[in-house]
Amino acid sequence: MNHTVVLGTQWGDEGKGKMVDTLAKQKKFKAVVRYQGGNNAGHTVVVKGEKHAFHLLPSGILYPEKTCVIGNGVIINPQVLLKEIKLLESRLGEKHARLLISDKAHLIMPWHILRDGIAGGRIGTTSRGIGPTYMDYIGRSGIRMMDFENKKIFSQRVVQELAWNKKLIKLMLDFYRIPQKERKSFELSQTLNEKRIIDSYWRGLNLLKKNRLIAIGDVSLFLNQLDKRGDSILFEGAQATLLDIAHGTYPFVTSSNPTVGGLYMGTGFRPRKLKVIGVVKAYTTRVGKGPFPTELFDQVGEKMREVGYEYGTTTGRPRRCGWLDLTIVKYAKLINGLDSLAITKLDVLTGINPLKIAVGYKINHKTRDIFTVNLEQLAKAKVVYQKIPGWKQDISRVRQFVDLPRETQNYVKKIENLTKLPIELIGVGPDRRQIIAKS
Ligand code: GDP
Ligand code: IMO
Ligand code: MG
Repeated sequence: MNHTVVLGTQWGDEGKGKMVDTLAKQKKFKAVVRYQGGNNAGHTVVVKGEKHAFHLLPSGILYPEKTCVIGNGVIINPQVLLKEIKLLESRLGEKHARLLISDKAHLIMPWHILRDGIAGGRIGTTSRGIGPTYMDYIGRSGIRMMDFENKKIFSQRVVQELAWNKKLIKLMLDFYRIPQKERKSFELSQTLNEKRIIDSYWRGLNLLKKNRLIAIGDVSLFLNQLDKRGDSILFEGAQATLLDIAHGTYPFVTSSNPTVGGLYMGTGFRPRKLKVIGVVKAYTTRVGKGPFPTELFDQVGEKMREVGYEYGTTTGRPRRCGWLDLTIVKYAKLINGLDSLAITKLDVLTGINPLKIAVGYKINHKTRDIFTVNLEQLAKAKVVYQKIPGWKQDISRVRQFVDLPRETQNYVKKIENLTKLPIELIGVGPDRRQIIAKS
């Protein structure tokens, strides 16, 4: 299969960045493509102790011989993108991949961030303006990269949108009963100053255009050309299956399609042969609000958080932690047509004994073994666990599957048996080198 997509099977932060970085090394992949989400994503790649956190840049950016692509389904905050590129270039100079940005990608504007700040609390969003930007995209009032071609057109679009958004935000502040003293942070005249917005976005875009490694253009054409030449493309999902706007734990989801369908919409490319790899953290985490049936509130959960350093890459919020839930992974297999799995953070489970894996939900005396349940049923569900012996040994230096302790091998095999999916890669530490290829 010539093209591959790596996507999240749980609630995000599975370690997609590390897996994409690992696979991108393969010569056959000429491009690495993000297809949805924005800078709500935080994808970490650790190289010889140096940590890179990517929010908009695809995780293949560290390979100078590749082209990285930001597809039309991604929403862009130009300031964030510039900051990321600047940081990267301060570390690597120009020794990074080229970047192609879709001219159809929508922009996150300051009013989107304000609206998210007012209304996003009930979900626990990342406050990056994600929901409101996708709302305007679907509502046909978004501003796109291509609107930057001409300063006059861009300025007119800002003026139009600003008039409506100022009114909307005033209404929202009242409707959501934001107390007077907190309203200072929503100071409209400061944040929503017409000239300031136009100037800063225009300056930002010109800085992007000036960078000789960056192009803005048609992503669909580029990917189809690569495909025609017989080159392989690696796609990088952001967020995850249970955060998908259509298939996730709605309304506690993000506003895009991290599942495989998002790839088609977010790139304008239909891969004829596509391998779908689901990334699974060896336990489960979630940031923000919403159901989480295997969540732990005890010392085990605390240990997962501390050993796994479970704090948001984007917002720094502590992540909620719990046992591995295979009903979720099976659901991700169903929705995405997964071909195989990559397991991460197996090392974090060292010393926890016994381990537990959720294999079903008991609802009204019936047990379901797949996460096809609604929020109401979830509230009543009793989780069915299988206990499995843990291990004590440090596995972070192991590089061959056969060298893992027997109990660790059994944990991995259990996942394979219950999901009926082969596991290709196993992470045993954050660094690029801490990985086991299991054939
Ligand atoms: P992503 O959003 O799916 O790319 O994941 P994040 O980067 O937000 O979170 C994953 C975290 O786990 C990061 O801090 C990674 O450096 C780290 N990580 C990835 N794989 C492993 C692993 O196998 N073991 C350990 N201990 N850490 C890992
Ligand atoms: P990566 O790509 C984990 C969560 C937020 C919130 C919900 C909606 O690093 O896995 P949003 O700002 O998208 O409107 O927030 O989705 N969320 C993530 N959780 N990893 C992410 O990305 C996430 N992106 C959004 O915490 O619950
Ligand atoms: Mg993340």
